[in-house]
Amino acid sequence: MLRRLHPDQPDSFAFTPANQAWAEAQMTKYPEGRQASAIIPLLWRAQEQEGWLTRPAMEHVAAMLDMAYIRVLEVATFYFMFQLQPVGSVAHIQICGTTSCMICGAEDLIGVCKKKIAAHAHDLSVDGRFSWEEVECLGACANAPMAQIGKDYYEDLTAERLGGIIDELADGKVPTPGPQNGRFASEPASGLTSLTEYVNGAIKLNASAGLATDIGDTVKRIDGTEVPLRAPWQGGDSAPEPAPEPVASVTDAPKAPSNQVDTSGAKPIALEAARDGKADDLKKISGVGPKLEMLLNSLGIFHFDQIAGWSEAEIAWVDENLEGFKGRVTRDNWVGQAKVLSEESDS
Ligand code: FES
Repeated sequence: MLRRLHPDQPDSFAFTPANQAWAEAQMTKYPEGRQASAIIPLLWRAQEQEGWLTRPAMEHVAAMLDMAYIRVLEVATFYFMFQLQPVGSVAHIQICGTTSCMICGAEDLIGVCKKKIAAHAHDLSVDGRFSWEEVECLGACANAPMAQIGKDYYEDLTAERLGGIIDELADGKVPTPGPQNGRFASEPASGLTSLTEYVNGAIKLNASAGLATDIGDTVKRIDGTEVPLRAPWQGGDSAPEPAPEPVASVTDAPKAPSNQVDTSGAKPIALEAARDGKADDLKKISGVGPKLEMLLNSLGIFHFDQIAGWSEAEIAWVDENLEGFKGRVTRDNWVGQAKVLSEESDS
C-alpha cells in the first residue's frame, strides 16, 4: 500500500505541556547522542494527542531529536501503526483481514464498516466520528475474527456484534473489550478441559479485558491528564496521589496494623504506607489495573494480606467506595485471589 502524507495538513504542531515533558523524559532513556532512539514513542505520543500523524508533528519530533526530517518520514511511512490521514474523532476501527480472521468472517466485518462508516478504508464517516481500515494479523487468531478499536481488542466478532459496538461507541459508550461471544479467553469453543475455575468462578473477564476495563481509555486520546511517566532517575514514576483523607500511623506488624483510617462502619484498616516501604504488586490480582492499584494505595491498602483478611462488611464498604470501579472486589473475587497470592509470597 502506498503511504503518503495527507494533502491537507495543519499549519503547526506542539505537544501539550504535559506531553512535551513526557517526550523529553523519554529522550533521557538513551545515551547522549542517541536520542533518535526515542523516535517511535515520540511519534506515537504525537499521534495519540492528535489522532493522526501530521507533517508538522513529524517536523517537531525531528527537531526535538536532532534528526533529518526525511529519517522521521521514513519511520512514519514504514510502520502501519502510524496514521497518515485524519481518523474518526470517536474511533478508528482496525479489522484484521489475515487468514484466520478472513476464514472466520472478516469480510463480513468489513462489510459492516463499509455500510456504517464509509465505503473505503481510511475515509471518514460523514459525521467525521469514525474511520476504518483492514490490517494484517494482530496476533489474536484464536479469537478470530477480531478488530482493534482504539487501544483494545474486540474478539470473536460477528457482523451483528460489530454493528452493535459501533452503535454503542456512537452513543458515547465503550463496549467491554475481549471476546464478544461469551468465551473467557481463547479456550476451545467446545469448552474448557482445564483451569475451569476461570469460567466457573467469580472472575468474569480475562486479564487483558479486565485491565482494559480498569484503565478505561480504549478510545480516549492522551490529553495531558495522565499520571506522569517519569524515569526512576527523574524521581520515579506513577507515584500514588496523596491519600484522599488523612491516614493514621504506619505499623510493621504483618496482620495487625495499629491504626485505622476510619473507625466508622466497616472501612478496612488502612496503612499510612507500605510495610518496609515495599508494597505488594496488587496488579497481580486479576481485575486490578494500575488505576485501581493507585486507588487502593490511596486508601491505605498495599498488601495482599490486607485484602485477604477483609470481612464481608469490609468487602461491601470497598465495593461501594471504589469510585468508578464499584463492585469489583466481589466481581473478581479479590479476597480469594489475595489469599492465594499472600500464601505464595509467605512461602
Ligand atoms: S489472523 Fe486475525 S488476528 Fe491473526
